Amino acid sequence: MTDQIPPRRTAPQAAARRVVLAWAFLVLTLLGNTAWPLSGQTQERPGITAVSLGAAAQRRGRVYGAAVSQQALEDRDFRRLLLQQVGSVTPENGLKWEVVQPQRGHFDFRQGDALLGLARRHGLEMRGHTLVWEQQEPAWLQTVASSDLRPILKAHIERVVGHYRGQLRSWDVINEPLADDGSGLRRHRWWRALGPEYIDLALEWAHQADPGARLLINDYGLEAQTPAAAVKRRALLALLRDLRRRNVPLHGLGIQAHLQAGQNNGRYDELVGFLKQVQALGLEIQITELDVDDRQLPGDPALRDRLVAAEYDNFLAAVLSNPAVRQVTTWGLSDRYTWLNSQSPRPDGGRQRALPFDEALRAKPAVAVMRERFARAASAAVSRRDRVATEQSAQEESDGIEGANAMLLEQWVLR
Ligand code: XIL
Repeated sequence: MTDQIPPRRTAPQAAARRVVLAWAFLVLTLLGNTAWPLSGQTQERPGITAVSLGAAAQRRGRVYGAAVSQQALEDRDFRRLLLQQVGSVTPENGLKWEVVQPQRGHFDFRQGDALLGLARRHGLEMRGHTLVWEQQEPAWLQTVASSDLRPILKAHIERVVGHYRGQLRSWDVINEPLADDGSGLRRHRWWRALGPEYIDLALEWAHQADPGARLLINDYGLEAQTPAAAVKRRALLALLRDLRRRNVPLHGLGIQAHLQAGQNNGRYDELVGFLKQVQALGLEIQITELDVDDRQLPGDPALRDRLVAAEYDNFLAAVLSNPAVRQVTTWGLSDRYTWLNSQSPRPDGGRQRALPFDEALRAKPAVAVMRERFARAASAAVSRRDRVATEQSAQEESDGIEGANAMLLEQWVLR
């Protein structure tokens, strides 16, 4: 016989193979929920201390997320870490005016769509950021007559919010509206053209374009125990009260939380008091851009990591005591991609270590601290609408994990 027919697998062989695959699948499913080592460099032993930040938050009805730049999105290893760790993503720049409407009337949603595609494939939420801001505006906007700005803003909001209708849970509609000196609203282009009413209008237009989306005002400089922060908190509270009283469609407040390591000596009780007042207005609270600037810390990386972790610890202990704080988003996830290296360079020329994971994507002490704070957080006040959405996304997420595990299975086991 020259033509040998390969022997068919016998029944016991096939059964044994099924058992091996079932075990492999089970193990990978469990690992799918843990911080699996990246390039073998992790400091954590998978399955022991390791549970993802997203999972830890979810157990208390909270959502942990990260901002993602286009560059980070294209980094395969980073993307893998992201998918392990987060329940939500925010496009770091991808939905800002200069990206979305680079020429008047020409819209470009490629960056936002790419991130949303990833989010949907893996059962993650995506946040919208941002619709009215004085920065990162396209050059053409500078040349527009003030009297033309109202229809331009309306068209922009309708187009951008409409494009993502039903797909983003929340939008940072108004970004950084308050003047730093506490004098009230920042007097930027939109304020000058439309008056203080620009806030009402933008919220109304966004609400009409996507009635299901939670609409937020998002601002910075609110966290410190300083007179400047106190004035800003007061001005913000007055604004929020006024909008609520007049039934303008505003559903939440975003606290950016770009922290300085060592600020406040770790105290955040004034912020805690402020959050209670915001909660009393019936608003949801999100921490939207958390990171810890280490430029004032000494160079030693281990010391810096400890102090940065301590800042995350103190801050999260404070804000997670409030059940209205539904979501915590860090402005990035790994030190490989942080805006702080250009925004706030260290005087010694070193790189910032502001985020939970280091440049090699290894967990830093902040990760364990954050997990612990999520685990100890008061359970969030979950609305009925969110409960339904969470059940759906949990189903999608488990589909996503199975999908991811099936891919790993293909690569590692079935080779
Ligand atoms: C920053 C981005 O991280 C940078 O990449 C960009 O060059 C400038 O903007 N407050 C905000 C964010 O609301 O949109 C900013 O993001 C950081 C401060």
